[in-house]
This record gives sequence, C-alpha cells and structure tokens, in this order.
Amino acid sequence: SRRKQVDETLFPFQMSQEQLHLVKSRMRADLEAGLKNKNPSTIKMLPSFVYHTPDGTERGKYLALDLGGTNFRALLVNFKKGLHQNTRLYHKIYTVPMEIMQGTGEELFDHLAQCVSDFLDYMGMKNAHLPAGFTFSFPCEQTAIDTGTLLTWTKGFKATDCEGHDVVNMLREAIKRRNVTAVVNDTVGTMMSCAYEDPECEVGLIAGTGTNVCYMEDQRDADAQRMCINTEWGGLGDDGSLNDIITPYDAEVDQNSLHPGKQRFEKLTSGMYLGEIVRQVLLDLTRGGLLFRGHVTEALKTPGIFETKYLSQIESDRLALLQVRSILQQLGLDSNCDDSIIVKEVCGAVSRRAAQLVGAGIAAVVDKIRENRGLEHLNITVGVDGALYKLHPHFSRVLHDTAKVLAPLCNVSFLPSEEGSGKGAALITAVAKQKQQM
Ligand code: BG6
Ligand code: GLC
Repeated sequence: SRRKQVDETLFPFQMSQEQLHLVKSRMRADLEAGLKNKNPSTIKMLPSFVYHTPDGTERGKYLALDLGGTNFRALLVNFKKGLHQNTRLYHKIYTVPMEIMQGTGEELFDHLAQCVSDFLDYMGMKNAHLPAGFTFSFPCEQTAIDTGTLLTWTKGFKATDCEGHDVVNMLREAIKRRNVTAVVNDTVGTMMSCAYEDPECEVGLIAGTGTNVCYMEDQRDADAQRMCINTEWGGLGDDGSLNDIITPYDAEVDQNSLHPGKQRFEKLTSGMYLGEIVRQVLLDLTRGGLLFRGHVTEALKTPGIFETKYLSQIESDRLALLQVRSILQQLGLDSNCDDSIIVKEVCGAVSRRAAQLVGAGIAAVVDKIRENRGLEHLNITVGVDGALYKLHPHFSRVLHDTAKVLAPLCNVSFLPSEEGSGKGAALITAVAKQKQQM
C-alpha cells in the first residue's frame, strides 16, 4: 500500500538509541584525534586564541562585521560603564549575491568594503577609526587573534584566491587599512555574546545555514590556560565514519553540493541541506507514483526550493493541512490532502534526525568537558544561534531531549543568542585592544 511504501522510504531516517550513542562516540573520538593533531583528522579543532569569556569590564565602541550566515551584517557596538552591563548596538543587514559568494576573492572583499562604507555613512561615522572585529564563519587556521588563514570554504561560498590566504589581510586591504583587531568564528562570537549574560556559558553552537560548535578546552598541562577551540565538527564523517546512517538521498545531496565529499555531518544537520534532502525524498516518492499523482514538475526539480523557513512553516503544528497545501502551492507544487500529509512527514523525519544528530554531538562535547575537569556532574550553558534552532518548531526540543538522554551526567542549558555573534566579536576586539595598549 501507499502508506507502507512511504514508511519504508522514511525508515532509514529513524535513529535508534544505539545509533545515536555510536554517533556520540564517533564525535568524541574525532574531537580527541583533532586535538592531538592526528593527520588527517575529520574535525579540525582550531585554536581561537580566545582565553576566557567576558568579565564585564569590556568598554568602548567597536565595529563588527559578520560574514557567513544567511546575511552579511555590519554592526556598531558600544559597551558602556554602568551598574548593569549596558550595551548599545546598531546594525544593518546586507545580502551577498550568489555571484559574489562564488566569484573572485577580490570581488567578495570589495563588496564587503562597500557595505562597510555604506554602513559608516549611514551611522554618520565616516571618519571615526574604530577598531573592527571580523566574524568569519569558515574554518581558519589562526596563529594569533588577528590572523586567520582560510583553510577551505564551506556552505555556499567558493570565491577564488581566498583559500590559503589571511582573511584579515584581505579585509584590511579592502577597507583601506582600517584597524582589524580580531577574527572570530561565529560559534566563538556566539559563545562570547551569551557568556556576557551567563558565566556558565562555555560552549557555542550554530544550527543555521551550517552547523558547528566551539567550547572552552582545558589544556592538558594544569598550568596552561584554557582556550576556546573551534571544532569545525561539520567535517565528522568525511572519512566515511557516518556511512552507515547516510541514505541514498543524503548521498545525492552531497554529490550535487558545492563541496562534494566534505562536511558530511553538516550536510545531515543544517539548514542549507535539509530542504534538499526533503526534495530528494519527494522526487523519489513522486517517481514511484506515491506523491503528486506521479508528476515530477519543474518546481520539484529546482534545487533550493525548500528553504529552512518553509520547512519550519510546513512542520508547524499550528498550521492546518490546508495551509500546508497553500505553502506548497506558493512553491509551485500542486498537492491534494494526502500529498500534504506525506510532505509534512518527510520534513519531520529529516529535521528530527538532524536535531538528534546535533544532540548526540552536544552530548559528546559536554561529556568531554566534564571528564576534562574530572567532574562527577557538570552544569553548563550552551549559547546557540542559527535559523534552524531559532525558527524551526521542533528542532530545539528534540535537540535538548537527545542531549539530555545521551549525557545524563551533565545538566545542559541552552541560551539563544540575542544579537548574533557580532557582539561577541566586538567583545573579543575589546579585549584584544586592551592587550595591545598594555
Ligand atoms: C548569526 C551570526 O547570528 O547566526 C552569524 O551572527 C551566523 O555569524 C548565524 O553565521 C547563523 O545563522 P544562519 O541561520 O543565518 O546561518
Ligand atoms: C560551517 C563553517 C563553520 C561555521 C558553521 C556555522 O560549518 O565551516 O566555520 O561555524 O558553518 O556557520
């Protein structure tokens, strides 16, 4: 029957407790391998040169630039003295067109420079030479807080002449040698901005276009200080370790992506890919005559039609099926009532697996921190950002539940970041600036 065939198609997306435990232990093993610098390690474990979370003494005005999520943002952040932490923040959002994400490095950085110039005009601050922090949400090899060599592009970026180059230099050149004091990953910026509110926040998680985690690592040597590590956990599985859970639909999405074979964990768990997995399943069901009366339409063949915001809407329990049908209609898909039920189930299966996998990853990270510190029990806060976490109706709950079951000795709280990672980048810039002046 139709029901049975749909269930069979979705079965591989169901994760058993055993599978989730395995994902947790593979994550843990690769976190350790990355720290020991085992080559090649799927998880890069990049030092961030951020040694502690904010202490509330940060002061001054900073410019922050934030590249790598859905939008490019320019921000002005002002940390003021006062009884309570008192921050002013102004920002403007700019889009980065696909031609620029995948054009030349020079075009990309010139575009950023234009946005910066527009923002400073808008703020009436053309001549204020503020120190700038750069949130750059890609894997960078850092040797100091203000240098970062792009190792490889991920997500939707593929601009030429950037890999292997220092992105701080490229930005400085483009913005006419303005003072760029810090480069930070979005996970690190998110952790810092959340830690400003909650001192127990020592992990930063992004579940958005991409997925990644950073955390405060205790160095082996007891005297050495802690350092925040950008794990780049999206690379888990790049050596084949997740092949037992990867479905043919996932394989197809990977093959059609900008960076085939890379970021396999990210491709199972993040906004840029979930809609594509859904589309592959729907294509298959339609070809099998189980959906849309067997008509494979142009709309269904269009990559990228199921953006995170549509998945979130389709899965919302507040929507009646008729409304689901109207969303599908907007996307160019003619559905009847049964179709809309199946589409909703497919979205649910794909996003639930994503949330469980991220939950298993978080369990690995918090248990590692707990063991590092020799604790029986750990209380810890995870600062989170990203459209999937913030907008999806079930993702966050499933993620929390999974982390709780898989890391029973940790009490994990999740704190959504309020202003994104730009504020965190500004905090890091403030500290870097103080050091420069000492
Ligand atoms: C934002 C951060 O708040 O979250 C970005 O400031 C980050 O740097 C983003 O990449 C992730 O969200 P999304 O969903 O836009 O990828
Ligand atoms: C990708 C990037 C990583 C970033 C994440 C979330 O995984 O490689 O640096 O943190 O996306 O934006």
